[in-house]
Amino acid sequence: MSSALFSPIKLAGIELTNRLVVSPMCQYSADDGCANDWHLMHLGMLAHSGASLVVVEATHVERAGRITHGCLGLYSDDNEMALGRVIAQARRMGSAKFGIQLAHAGRKGSAQKPWDGVSALKTGDDPWETIAPSPIPFGEGWHTPREATEADLERVRDGFVNAAKRALRIGFDAIELHMAHGYLLHGFLSPLSNKRSDQYGGAFENRLRFPLSVARAVRAVVPRDVPLGARITGSDWRDGGLTPDDAVALAKVLKAEGLDFVCVSSGGVAADIRNPSEPGYNVPIAAKVKQEAGIAARAVGLIVKPEQAEQIVGQGNADMVALARGFLDDPHWGWHAAKTLGADVQRPRQYLRAGPKLWAPAAKA
Ligand SMILES: Cc1cc2nc3c(=O)[nH]c(=O)nc-3n(C[C@H](O)[C@H](O)[C@H](O)COP(=O)(O)O)c2cc1C
Repeated sequence: MSSALFSPIKLAGIELTNRLVVSPMCQYSADDGCANDWHLMHLGMLAHSGASLVVVEATHVERAGRITHGCLGLYSDDNEMALGRVIAQARRMGSAKFGIQLAHAGRKGSAQKPWDGVSALKTGDDPWETIAPSPIPFGEGWHTPREATEADLERVRDGFVNAAKRALRIGFDAIELHMAHGYLLHGFLSPLSNKRSDQYGGAFENRLRFPLSVARAVRAVVPRDVPLGARITGSDWRDGGLTPDDAVALAKVLKAEGLDFVCVSSGGVAADIRNPSEPGYNVPIAAKVKQEAGIAARAVGLIVKPEQAEQIVGQGNADMVALARGFLDDPHWGWHAAKTLGADVQRPRQYLRAGPKLWAPAAKA
């Protein structure tokens, strides 16, 4: 039996050994944007999870663009040095390639770490001013953001470009722009959060203007052989919000700008929106984007079983699948999926006595 999930895929100049990706996951554990030993352990572990690509958590392009005080950044030399150390070590420990997600939190910034409560930082917790397309809070009790000015947009765009240059110096294999989950770039795209009447608001073309300018500016500094993609919104899950057709339109534009892939996620633009809870809820949208925009598409969201992941790729609904919680639950998810699907993955030599050498005798017991 040959597995579609465990077949290779080429993205720009890199070859991935399989189509399984570790989805970016904030750890809320950085020190002023700097990665530390927690990230070393976490990413080192995921480097030999069986996924061919590990995407590092949302990494913010300016200090005030972080979600929490514990979020990663690439806005300083210290940030670059700290993440460079972690990635160099994690690479030595495993066989996965590493991508990074570059982000700006917009109106969802200046928030508490989730384990302290999902809400805005209080006075005394060192909160900061947030920006957004329009001065509308994310939800009740959240900060009212300042409407971003032309100068803010220029600074943030430069921040994305500089962070991308830092990521390239660190040696990341792929870069992904965060255009989903209600953060700044999604904030501009969604009619629910963007109420501007200038050239950045109103019609889709206008709401697209700022995110597109970021994608274009980053593409200009990222060599063509390094895959550049974006995480996009498949649906805002609310009437009047972004729809799967908007996701297709965005993916087409990004493809025309030279982006190599999109990851189709959804939701997160307002505090009271809930995502569907069915397995693979974004898959039909990813399939539509892949088919209609003709760009490599990754699906994410409640993909939990190997057979499910295999079916998504095997039926051509997505080129890759990403799992987040599945890998936290089982950091060797890829090993176990490969076993189920009759495929194999690279393991570190220290662990070679596990895997098939364990399973074959165990089967007889
Ligand atoms: C702990 C945690 C942190 C997350 N942080 C990020 C992030 O940094 N960037 C992002 O785009 N999505 C983030 N997500 C969302 C996941 O990448 C993923 O899209 C979502 O959890 C659905 O996938 P799953 O059902 O496999 O967990 C996070 C999810 C979790 C559980």
